[in-house]
Amino acid sequence: MTYPSHFSLEQVVRPNILALQPYRCARDDYQSGILLDANENSLGHSIPESSGLLLKGLSLNRYPDPSYDQIKGMFASLRGLPDATFVFLGVGSDEVIDLLFRISCVPAKDKALVTPPTYGMYAVCAQVNDVAVLKVPLDVEGGSFQLRLDEIKRVISQEQNIKLVFICSPGNPTGTTIPLKDIQALLEYPDFKGLIVVDEAYIDFTGEEGSAVSLIERYANICVTQTLSKSFGLAAIRLGVAMAQPSLIRILSNTKAPYNISSLTAQAALSALSSGGINLMKSNVASIKRMQASLIDSLKALRPLGLGETRGGNHANFVLVPVLKRGSTSNNEYDNARAIRVYKKLAEDMGVVVRYRGGELGCEGCLRITIGTEEENRVLLNKLEQALSQE
Ligand SMILES: Cc1ncc(COP(=O)(O)O)c(C=O)c1O
Repeated sequence: MTYPSHFSLEQVVRPNILALQPYRCARDDYQSGILLDANENSLGHSIPESSGLLLKGLSLNRYPDPSYDQIKGMFASLRGLPDATFVFLGVGSDEVIDLLFRISCVPAKDKALVTPPTYGMYAVCAQVNDVAVLKVPLDVEGGSFQLRLDEIKRVISQEQNIKLVFICSPGNPTGTTIPLKDIQALLEYPDFKGLIVVDEAYIDFTGEEGSAVSLIERYANICVTQTLSKSFGLAAIRLGVAMAQPSLIRILSNTKAPYNISSLTAQAALSALSSGGINLMKSNVASIKRMQASLIDSLKALRPLGLGETRGGNHANFVLVPVLKRGSTSNNEYDNARAIRVYKKLAEDMGVVVRYRGGELGCEGCLRITIGTEEENRVLLNKLEQALSQE
């Protein structure tokens, strides 16, 4: 029996996707022998040995595994899920987000709900897929950045055809985790017939107990996305993950392009998900969290120059910090124009690129600063002090 009873995957997934005959290749059935089925180049790849690239053991002239069950199994085990059937692999979580739109939202008819300030790709993917976006801003009071559950429920009950609700936890740019009980309240809300997508790109920086993956075995209406781009430090390989009950995972797999994950990406991912790789990830996360705490502490010394207290929960690998009016020490007296000047000075004259987020609700005056290496953080502090003194 599917739980919750008000949810039916058949009502969420577009009829054309439900009826889809997925692309099948001979390699789905036969993986070894003389392989003359896929019009590959039998003579091999054309990367000269002198390139120094480490390609040992990779048959780059062959199409990659269409499903990579081994990687899925390793990820399932890392996150405490029963097996590979609960995991989908995408080209970054960005591909997963786009696919979720494509499987569920009928263009020009269905809608998605987002909770600003939030990750910008939800709205971009919505627009690409001609899907209207409803916005229910987070409660930004005092930088709490929490869901306004009653308002979300009100909009859900009032609007027809909301297929996707995106919750980013920890949020970007808020750096704030959303409690599981709030996510559960939406999963249980009978008026909502769609999918709750929880984007956990930064989850390893906040501790696993906060992860919505623990809700997947109970709820058929949740999909959790994660990525190797952040805690694993593998943004370049483009590997994102969706985790959900197998019926939804099957639909994502049927819809994706046949060989979306390259052999090079897979090789790196297998290594990163080995026990050695996971230990390295955990130790890097611990170092980043230590440096984040130290950066937050050091930023306090810039208060007299008109820099405010960091905003949000600092649960990810960045800080969000407001630039205030010159001479002000009140966090409410932010100064967007000054923040932009500081941001530009840092980038154009001082070689330090941070992100201006002052245009986002609840982030007025704010710069979002990723935690760098020890040396990069030292330079950042030094240059920020100079920029604030000058602007
Ligand atoms: C909240 C959030 N989700 C997803 C992504 C994209 O991740 P990926 O590199 O897996 O596409 C990012 C990247 O910054 C992000 O901040």
